[in-house]
Amino acid sequence: MKAIDQDLLLLKNEDDTRALGLRIAEALESGDVVALIGDLGTGKTALTKYIAEGLGVAEEIISPTFTIVKEYRSGRLPLYHFDVYRLGSGEELLDIGAEEMLDGDGVCVIEWADIVADVLPEDALAIRLEYAANEGERTAEFL
Ligand SMILES: Nc1ncnc2c1ncn2[C@@H]1O[C@H](COP(=O)(O)OP(=O)(O)OP(=O)(O)O)[C@@H](O)[C@H]1O
Ligand SMILES: [Mg+2]
Repeated sequence: MKAIDQDLLLLKNEDDTRALGLRIAEALESGDVVALIGDLGTGKTALTKYIAEGLGVAEEIISPTFTIVKEYRSGRLPLYHFDVYRLGSGEELLDIGAEEMLDGDGVCVIEWADIVADVLPEDALAIRLEYAANEGERTAEFL
């Protein structure tokens, strides 16, 4: 991944989240993993949607809560979008065959990544999303 020189960002509205997603997409390279951490509704799926847009994914991004992972092939790089909310551990992620995707040529974006942190690569781009003071505002912290 190309360097993203950032520590903490205030996302004042969803346009700011989109701008961040597009910027991340530009920096992504084959094999990268983006680990998204944050409570319900903080914008993990929204950010993923904008990363996908930046990669040129044509399909609509639907939260893969029940399927755990969904694959999109129409962008600059293959995108594997995970939502591991329903998993209990990194081991369970490997049990569903994720290793192939984590070690593959595509890009993995993982919602609730803290649950499976033990099986993610050291060099994953980890971002914590949090609610900020005002309605519609979020913070994005690069961990
Ligand atoms: N600055 C912002 N950035 C992103 N989303 C925002 C922002 N402000 C408001 N929203 C709204 O917050 C909601 C975020 O929902 P989203 O599904 O992306 O969250 P999530 O973190 O994926 O939740 P879940 O834990 O259920 O998967 C959306 O309805 C979005 O429109
Ligand atoms: Mg989500």
